[in-house]
Amino acid sequence: MIFFVLVSDTCSEDSSKDISGPELIRLVTDKNTPTGKILQGHVMLSGIVEDDEYIIMEVLKSWSDDLKPNVILTTGGTGFSKRDVTPEATKQIIEKEAPGLSLAMLNASLKVTPMAMLSRAVCGIRGDTLIINLPGSLKAVRECLDSIANVIPHAVDLILDNKPKIKTTHEAVQGSLCKHKCQHDKDTSTPLNDVVNRLRKSPYPMISMEKVASIIQSYNWSGDCETINLWNCHGRILADDIYSLCDLPPFRASIKDGYAVIASDGKGLRKVTGSIEAGQTPHNLKAGFCMRINTGAPVPDEATAVVQVEDTELISKSHDNTEENEINILVVPKEDDDIRAIGSDIKKGTCVLKKYTKITAVELGILAACGCTSVNVTKLPKIGVLSTGNELQQAGEPQKPGHVYDSNKITLMMLLKEHGYEAKDIGIAIDDEHVMTDLINNALNNVDVLITTGSVSMGDRDMLKPIIEKKFNGKIHFGRVNMKPGKPTTFATCMFNGQVKYFMCLPGNPVSATVTFYLFAMPLIHRLSGNYSSPIIVKARLMNSYKLDSRPEYTRAILVWQHDSTDNIPEAYDTGNQISSRLVSCKNANALLMLPGCTDEKYKLQKGDLVEAILLGFHQHV
Ligand SMILES: *[C@@H]1O[C@H](CO)[C@@H](O)[C@H](O)[C@H]1NC(C)=O
Ligand SMILES: *[C@@H]1O[C@H](CO)[C@@H](O)[C@H](O)[C@H]1NC(C)=O
Ligand SMILES: *[C@@H]1O[C@H](CO)[C@@H](O)[C@H](O)[C@H]1NC(C)=O
Ligand SMILES: *[C@@H]1O[C@H](CO)[C@@H](O)[C@H](O)[C@H]1NC(C)=O
Repeated sequence: MIFFVLVSDTCSEDSSKDISGPELIRLVTDKNTPTGKILQGHVMLSGIVEDDEYIIMEVLKSWSDDLKPNVILTTGGTGFSKRDVTPEATKQIIEKEAPGLSLAMLNASLKVTPMAMLSRAVCGIRGDTLIINLPGSLKAVRECLDSIANVIPHAVDLILDNKPKIKTTHEAVQGSLCKHKCQHDKDTSTPLNDVVNRLRKSPYPMISMEKVASIIQSYNWSGDCETINLWNCHGRILADDIYSLCDLPPFRASIKDGYAVIASDGKGLRKVTGSIEAGQTPHNLKAGFCMRINTGAPVPDEATAVVQVEDTELISKSHDNTEENEINILVVPKEDDDIRAIGSDIKKGTCVLKKYTKITAVELGILAACGCTSVNVTKLPKIGVLSTGNELQQAGEPQKPGHVYDSNKITLMMLLKEHGYEAKDIGIAIDDEHVMTDLINNALNNVDVLITTGSVSMGDRDMLKPIIEKKFNGKIHFGRVNMKPGKPTTFATCMFNGQVKYFMCLPGNPVSATVTFYLFAMPLIHRLSGNYSSPIIVKARLMNSYKLDSRPEYTRAILVWQHDSTDNIPEAYDTGNQISSRLVSCKNANALLMLPGCTDEKYKLQKGDLVEAILLGFHQHV
């Protein structure tokens, strides 16, 4: 039988001092002990975890789902102290409870000491795995295991339900462990049996930026639109194809300053019967006559051509010198000369702008010319920004010891504003489950997308992911990304009051927050708004050398296009110190350089090398 052993660190703060773990392994495997004789166990995996309900859950889930041992034995964390959470974690991940096993252990221990009443061990089944909580003390572990060892083999048989008896061979477990490890964590070289330490870091698989892109690209605009007055829709995205409501020009218009004539009259003398200015309605015109006309003015219905003034001469004028009486037309007018036909620019009913077009100044001109007064635009997602962290203070408050002023919220809200999105200030949450849950709950009543900073890396106790999963029944789509800076960036969705809500949880460090905002939050929000265009990526020539990190790195840079450059490739200048807490290094950056992860062959980039860079704006620096 394949056993995994999970030791709670209430047993020992220090893994080197852990004694119930090794003793439990001996009791399961050593055929000279009564239990070992019955169980004939192989302990393929063991490890120590922090007393953190969430981490224990993740370990138990990933062990039983991915590796399917016959039995997982936990030791420790079953008592009454605050730190004891193993039964709670176990209860949440088992599919069936096995209270008889707990009862038998309790019954056995009670015979030895009434203190056994204080054990809260839980047993149950998840998938093909039997999970058993044992107490932490050496003595209690022995008593408890003794009391149930007899039935474990039978229980395992029943769970496997006539499937080949021990379907997990030593090799298979090793193989899948290896697969498990490689898929989930390429960047560290922890030994196979150190899976727990790896999980202790983060239970989320590390995914690539390509995978991130494909996940974000699976989210689209909901289809909700709103009708908005032309004057208020600058910067928005059209939700419909737009068809012109009128012809352009709406009447036959003169292209020149000259005379409206009937072409069949030919060249020669004409009486001038008056003039037409732009904005007037033309009088009727008879054969042998002409009318003076200005550019853009409507041509009389009877006229079939306009003759430009340069092709005429004055013959006679009125006595008071104010009016032309007669002119000579020097060229033979041709039908339709210098007349713009009705609808020759835009025909009524033709599509002038396509759905998903961004409405800028020029598009507004077209819409106005076509008679539109309001258009349907995509409804923008409602966005909220939340900062988290015990150390944060709102700027303006007297500074408390050990605190820093929160810069992330204002930065992100203003970046959103620069891109045409209003955002709500959701406040600052301290690292407390209840405070955070309440704030998020309130926020979700008002926003569709919640952008948070902080509480996603292990140092921050990674509080957000478990809250999203447990309190909001959310799905984490990624919780760790193979990039720098911003590895713990987390994206999740949940259903709330019948609507999809999105969480983009960015790291708390200000530079990481800004870089990940550009890389993760902005593309998601653009897509949810119906903006499916991608950022512009250009090649840039490095003006500094870079040592490559194991992860692909995004580093702020200033791109400069030199006028005398022969190849038009911009020069990329470092923005200075890139230590990620220095927001100052973002200052003036107009691009993010995409430095590849290092390989054995390529571990640095030299000045002069070309790399790709994401443009953040079009301003040229001085
Ligand atoms: C509980 O212990 C008593 C002896 O102390 C024993 O007779 C009984 O069978 C035990 N019950 C279970 C469920 O193990
Ligand atoms: C989202 O939009 C893309 C086009 O950008 C389209 O290919 C895809 O099918 C859409 N997905 C859904 C779920 O509507
Ligand atoms: C906006 O869309 C609605 C529903 O499709 C439609 O009835 C309405 O005419 C549209 N309004 C404009 C200004 O295009
Ligand atoms: C659409 O997205 C692109 C890049 O992803 C961005 O440059 C552009 O400003 C966005 N347009 C709008 C209207 O938000």
